[in-house]
Amino acid sequence: MDFFRLLLLAASMHEDIEKVLIAEEVIEKRLDVIAERVHADFASEEALQVVAILKGALVFMADLLRRVPLRLEIECLNVASYHGGTESSGQVDFLDQKLPDVKGRCVLLIDDILDTGRTLEAVSAKLLQMGAREVKTCVLLTKDKVRAAEVEADYSAFEIADEFVVGYGLDYDGKYRNLPYVGVLNPAVIKS
Ligand code: IMP
Ligand code: MG
Repeated sequence: MDFFRLLLLAASMHEDIEKVLIAEEVIEKRLDVIAERVHADFASEEALQVVAILKGALVFMADLLRRVPLRLEIECLNVASYHGGTESSGQVDFLDQKLPDVKGRCVLLIDDILDTGRTLEAVSAKLLQMGAREVKTCVLLTKDKVRAAEVEADYSAFEIADEFVVGYGLDYDGKYRNLPYVGVLNPAVIKS
């Protein structure tokens, strides 16, 4: 690597990352597999409704769904549970004025990560309560831990240890969502 490239790297968000947990190429290969499963499982579904949870699911959803050649429809849902820190607040807030109309629809619910499980549980329950016929859940990451809410994702690309990660949609204090890989932050970056 030449000197100027090194300089650029040092001036970028990459320098805040202590280690790369899941590299970009590894994510891409795995998305091919998950997309094929989703395609096969919903091939007979006339109008699959996707609901993505903002903002964490943005990057994963965009890359995954472009690999799924179904006539699906996409809605996004604004939900908050972290409020800027690195620990779940334990409360799930629906931030939208208006929620998507899912009456009678089969819904594929996409989120970035399954952590305590509260988000997927609360949103699944809400969608079913709003009349969804069926809700299947899909996440990029599943944290290996005992969950506050008993949910497992129907589709999960990777299982990771119980540590705080950023990138590929996941943020710390609103930043690092645009990292093309999943990584662990340098502890010095995290506000005490
Ligand atoms: P849960 O409701 O605890 O399962 O958490 C779901 C939400 O918490 C996700 O949509 C993420 O936005 C956020 N979250 C959980 N773990 C992490 C992490 O390691 N890094 C960044 N965000 C996380
Ligand atoms: Mg989030």
